[in-house]
Amino acid sequence: MEPVIWRDGRVELLDQRLLPQRVQWVHCRDYRETARGIRDMVVRGAPAIGVTAAYGLAQAVRASRASDRVSLLADLHAADAVLRAARPTAVTLMWALDRMLAVAQRSLDIVSELEKEALAIHQETRELDQRIAQAGLAVVPPGTRILTHCHTGGLATGGTGTALGVIMAAHRSGYGISVWVDETRPYLQGSRITAWELQQAGVPATLICDNMAGYFMGRGEVDLVLVGTDRMAANGDFANKIGTYSLAVLAHAHRIPFYPALPLSSIDLAMSDGRHIPIEQRSPQEVTHFRGMPVAPAGVQVANPAFDMTPHSYVTGIITEAGVLRPPFTRTIAQALGK
Ligand code: MRU
Repeated sequence: MEPVIWRDGRVELLDQRLLPQRVQWVHCRDYRETARGIRDMVVRGAPAIGVTAAYGLAQAVRASRASDRVSLLADLHAADAVLRAARPTAVTLMWALDRMLAVAQRSLDIVSELEKEALAIHQETRELDQRIAQAGLAVVPPGTRILTHCHTGGLATGGTGTALGVIMAAHRSGYGISVWVDETRPYLQGSRITAWELQQAGVPATLICDNMAGYFMGRGEVDLVLVGTDRMAANGDFANKIGTYSLAVLAHAHRIPFYPALPLSSIDLAMSDGRHIPIEQRSPQEVTHFRGMPVAPAGVQVANPAFDMTPHSYVTGIITEAGVLRPPFTRTIAQALGK
């Protein structure tokens, strides 16, 4: 199933908020509705957000009434600002928008070139995911009991996934793996989507609450931790779904290998380390309610950072389409990016 479909100027988003109980699509008729779909997490996962935003810009120029190039570019930049502000942490969003703007600057037929570029970004995501999955197999010995967090499958990328793509590839290749699935409070991407996809694929999987990871690690029942990434700094520090940092510390304490998997487009060389990665703060409602049902006292004070930052010192290696990068990451990341 695809998280996002381009249909002749309309962006169709699979409503991931309703999974797994309901499969329902949201029809975004213009870039503002597409930006809202990103902001409200109809679509989520860093690479899928980037693909969706690229389609949003294609929508904006298509719908523009501008009669000259200068006004068309002005409309494009207005849409870019709205889409760029939709979610602040996943750098693939900015990367995809930058790429679209660069194409617009050098195109004669901006409308058709931007549509082509958005489709190309989507197609490349599919191809990169395959390469990430193949590269990741090198860190998964047969019989590995893998712990994963959040959801990093095809619905989070538009392809076949990053960390979950590695897991699915290992399963299909007969590695005899099994998976511990963190439920991933507060949005429950793990229990609602990862557990569902693993179940459909026939991968042996056990759902646990986030606070159970240490228990199973302490019992020697976790061999490997695989997670995704929303933004990685030049030194290998990275932001990912809230709870990733705690897992990294636990894995380190139990000497369990810990790998993020990501496309190189998730690396932001403008950040020398992870301290300055913007961390999205989301609505208290996500913590106090589940699908409209209160699970906390009314009026309670709430903190809801959607991501945390894991220092590179806890990272065993970085799985990318260019292979598994090893420390020192500042050097191997720069090499992988050809810098
Ligand atoms: O808030 P979300 O659901 O968009 O967060 C998703 C994650 O943190 C993923 O791990 C990350 O985007 C990588 S997806 C391949």
